[in-house]
Amino acid sequence: METLQLAVLGSGNGSNLQAILDGIAARALSAKVVCVISDVANAYILDRARKAEVPAFHVDCGPSKSKLEGEAEQRVISILREHGADTVALAGFMRIVKQDLLRAYPERVLNIHPSLLPSFPGLRAWEQALNYGVRHSGCTVHFVDEGTDTGPIILQRTVLVHDRDTPESLHKRIQSQERIAYVEALRLLANGRLRIEGRRVLRLND
Ligand code: GAR
Repeated sequence: METLQLAVLGSGNGSNLQAILDGIAARALSAKVVCVISDVANAYILDRARKAEVPAFHVDCGPSKSKLEGEAEQRVISILREHGADTVALAGFMRIVKQDLLRAYPERVLNIHPSLLPSFPGLRAWEQALNYGVRHSGCTVHFVDEGTDTGPIILQRTVLVHDRDTPESLHKRIQSQERIAYVEALRLLANGRLRIEGRRVLRLND
């Protein structure tokens, strides 16, 4: 079993970061969070990191609102290297990561998305699902490739959609599954149980 040297990138509240930190503290996951990076200066994810005594960085991403590229991407890569990261977990990071970062961490960048991919990629996936009228939704943890929410799927957890759901109530139910899903996916990775074969991620035996 390997101890993941994990960097977490996020733009918001950081509940997935918190779940990962709690999973490590509970010994459910063999990992150390070596740094947390946000593109949003006052994102709560940075406060959570500081509270846990994890090095926390804001990286100004310039005019692009949706991409991590150019100088900002290089700055992120150098922070990751300085802190010895070997795995990158995107946790509510609202930018598309580009080739240089993916090349620096091949098969080692993961993302969590609040829908059952390939349905509803992109923004406010829970609202897309509700508006479409699906009866099941959930979350997906996947390896990141160059597309938007298109990489090989590691695992998914489902929730029911209720008649009275609002976008917020559905998102909350999905997030309660995200907390379980990210720790589980990272545990499989740390235990060397995952093998990517084309689009499929196979589970090897212990
Ligand atoms: C999570 O629901 C995550 O799945 C979603 O943002 C939220 C972040 O919450 N990510 C995306 O929509 C990415 N396309 P958190 O900051 O509390 O972890």
